Amino acid sequence: MARKKEKKDFVEQPRKEKSEYKEYVERQATHMISIISQVAMGDFEVRSEHGREDDLGALSTGINMMIGEVKKRTAKLEKIKATLENKVRERTIELEKEKNTFQATIFSISDGILVIDSKGNIVIVNPASERLLGIKRSQVMGRHVLECLEDVRILDLITRKLESGHEYYSKELIVTDRESGTERVLNGRISSVLTQVGKGLGTVIVLRDITKEKEVDRMKTDFVSNVSHELRTPLASIKGFVSTLLGTEVSEDEQKEFLTIINQESDRLNQLIEDLLDLSRIESGRVRLNFEPVNISEKIEKLKIEVFEKIKKKGLFLETEALDSLPMVKADKNALLQILVNLVGNAIKFTEKGSILVKAEPWNSGKYIRISVQDTGTGIEGKHLEKIFEKFYRVESVAHTIPGTGLGLAIVKDLVEKHKGKVWIESKLGKGSTFYFTIPAFTEGKDV
Ligand SMILES: Nc1ncnc2c1ncn2[C@@H]1O[C@H](COP(=O)(O)OP(=O)(O)OP(=O)(O)O)[C@@H](O)[C@H]1O
Ligand SMILES: [Mg+2]
Repeated sequence: MARKKEKKDFVEQPRKEKSEYKEYVERQATHMISIISQVAMGDFEVRSEHGREDDLGALSTGINMMIGEVKKRTAKLEKIKATLENKVRERTIELEKEKNTFQATIFSISDGILVIDSKGNIVIVNPASERLLGIKRSQVMGRHVLECLEDVRILDLITRKLESGHEYYSKELIVTDRESGTERVLNGRISSVLTQVGKGLGTVIVLRDITKEKEVDRMKTDFVSNVSHELRTPLASIKGFVSTLLGTEVSEDEQKEFLTIINQESDRLNQLIEDLLDLSRIESGRVRLNFEPVNISEKIEKLKIEVFEKIKKKGLFLETEALDSLPMVKADKNALLQILVNLVGNAIKFTEKGSILVKAEPWNSGKYIRISVQDTGTGIEGKHLEKIFEKFYRVESVAHTIPGTGLGLAIVKDLVEKHKGKVWIESKLGKGSTFYFTIPAFTEGKDV
């Protein structure tokens, strides 16, 4: 109604007033357009001036209210934006951290890891797989696996997995380690990388070095066959002589001779079983060693009594050298004597003439005592030196002439290591050998 009235008023205005009103309308319109443009440019502080109390004035008030509202909402949006930006920043940092941890883990894993995406391009290569496959990360990253992997066995692994249609496939591979040049046995396992909903993202190849496990397997098999062989030999001999004694007429002298052999072979069997039990008890930790301060000179005196008969029988000499002022060692009395008896026993067994010297002296700034057993016997060729501490290892040249089973030094090594010491040997063929071992000196309240 008001508008109609105004229109009417306008129509009824005299000519001069009419042009004045027109000017006012034009001015006000230009003003409001400028205000709206400034708001559009982001200035929410500007306000439209009212002018008169008419429709234009009302429009001006409306514009001002709208500016106020836009300002409020924009401020609210700014706040939400800032919060979102903060969240994005925090998540990015978290993701970066996760990525770094993931990368560091993959990089430090000793198993080789190779990840291929769904298109067949290599996306992850860790240093272990570089070493094991002889590839360079920088040269294979992002490239298609068929294009850059030369190792046909890896390619074969991939093809077999694809052909089998299974989630994973594994196979043993033998490769040469580039760093050490040694042959390594690997277990290559290839599996699909799936999302939680089972969508395929690619393939991961894990190369696990199983060289040690293989070696242990081999040693186990060797051990069992060695034990069987060592048990069978004296048993066969005993059985042979018993059968002869039972089945044929033999003179009294022969009877005596056969029974002596049977007795010796029984002793050998007994000794073998004792040694095996000893070894298994030490290795499994079932032997409880009682570590206490032990006077090494006293042990050497005891040793002299133990081996006196054998030394005399072979016409050898046993010399000892140990200062009275030597500190006590932290050891198990019986185990220490067993080590000494084994080493001196070997020295007697493998020496035909000359002397054996047992010496104890401070070692490594007095933290240890080093005991050496030196002989003037057969000596050992260099190529055997590393192996003689292995179970059942005997140098071929003596294996058939001098009795023994090759367990003595394995027992010595185990016992010395249980004492946190070391054992080693220096030897020259034809000149003699010296075995050394160390035992921690006893220090009140302190462990080595
Ligand atoms: N003092 C030594 N001089 C020369 N060869 C030695 C000496 N000690 C050990 N060996 C060599 O090392 C091998 C292993 O020694 P080890 O004591 O383990 O076995 P063994 O004496 O033959 O048998 P066992 O001790 O079980 O009765 C011996 O067979 C021998 O070839
Ligand atoms: Mg021996």
